[in-house]
Amino acid sequence: MSNATLFLAIKNGGGAIGISPSMPAFSGHLTNDEMAGLVSYIRGFCAEPEPRTDSIIIPSARR
Ligand code: HEM
Repeated sequence: MSNATLFLAIKNGGGAIGISPSMPAFSGHLTNDEMAGLVSYIRGFCAEPEPRTDSIIIPSARR
């Protein structure tokens, strides 16, 4: 999952990227900078580099 999609999942919730809406939105709770920091933190656990494409459907990207 790309950094942009991770950011969307955190900001707008799972429903925004086509995964479970049980993943809550954090917009209004965290600043964009804080959410970008979380993306970097999460990426830090990955053994592979950021993928160039996402295999999942991103509804918000179709608008
Ligand atoms: C700041 C805290 C959080 C961050 C940074 C975060 C981040 C993420 C990310 C990036 C994903 C997508 C993972 C992937 O598919 O590769 C995810 C999925 C998920 N999150 Fe969170 N999350 C947070 C808090 C929460 C909380 C509080 C809940 C529930 C109360 C939650 C529930 C879920 C669920 C259920 C999924 C899986 C959705 C699915 O695969 O369909 N998350 N989270």
